[in-house]
Amino acid sequence: MIGIFDSGIGGLTVVKEVLRQLPEYQFLYLGDTARTPYGNRSQDLIYQFMVGIVDYLFKAGCELIIVACNTASAQALRKIQQEWLPKHYPSATAVAGQANSGQRPSKRVLGVIRPVAEEAVKLSRSGRIGVVGTRSTINSGAYRREIEQLNPEIKVFQQACPLLVPLIEEGWLKRPETIKILRYYLRSLKQQKIDTLILGCTHYPILFKEFQQISGRQVKVLDSAKIIVEKLVDYLKRHPEIESKLTKGKQHRYLVTDLTDKFQENAQNWLGQKIKLEKISLD
Ligand code: DGL
Repeated sequence: MIGIFDSGIGGLTVVKEVLRQLPEYQFLYLGDTARTPYGNRSQDLIYQFMVGIVDYLFKAGCELIIVACNTASAQALRKIQQEWLPKHYPSATAVAGQANSGQRPSKRVLGVIRPVAEEAVKLSRSGRIGVVGTRSTINSGAYRREIEQLNPEIKVFQQACPLLVPLIEEGWLKRPETIKILRYYLRSLKQQKIDTLILGCTHYPILFKEFQQISGRQVKVLDSAKIIVEKLVDYLKRHPEIESKLTKGKQHRYLVTDLTDKFQENAQNWLGQKIKLEKISLD
């Protein structure tokens, strides 16, 4: 099974693409709605949250987890991949103590920063890329690091947009206040003459048209969810040993750590179909 993790239900923007591009695979979604938003939290706390969730999803039968949440990917993914995973889910050969087993864990956790950074680097003509995200994602510098690693010549301009998640969750999509705030956030990026814009937050694709309109025609706004799933399709082709372990079927489940009418309403609006959120406890 594929696990899809987000700090809340914004990750359903990624689920929508999984349903479109990988319709035959069964997935288990987990939104940490009891502790959302992660966007202004510290790295230590986000790491602790993520360990509990990743472990839960593996124990529930997931072989591969997509961390749809940009904030969690930016703040905690590397440590999970490099330290926690090899220790808790070592490869069979490593368990058997075989020499040369390598450090590859038996299960995988993939994030959203690297695939979108790769696409941005590929597409940018002027070498000036803008990134918007939560305060935590922007402060981590994760997108900048990935982009500069791929091409040190590229200039990255970042803007934290902490007001956007609450506005989107309130459904204030077409309100003049939201458009005004969006204009304000994009002003400095436009002044920097970026030609590519990364929407580094699960929620922002819900305002995709507005981002594109305000950024102008000379800026290519990247559809992160689409890119992430395209890269996942490619990853599964290159890793048949993981792909062959994934179950197929349509019995998807949508788990949350807290359930309210508002979460249920937003979930259905954002996914564009009727779904049932199930409340679970992580302990
Ligand atoms: N899911 C988060 C992200 O993509 C946004 C919501 C939050 O702050 O938790 O960064």
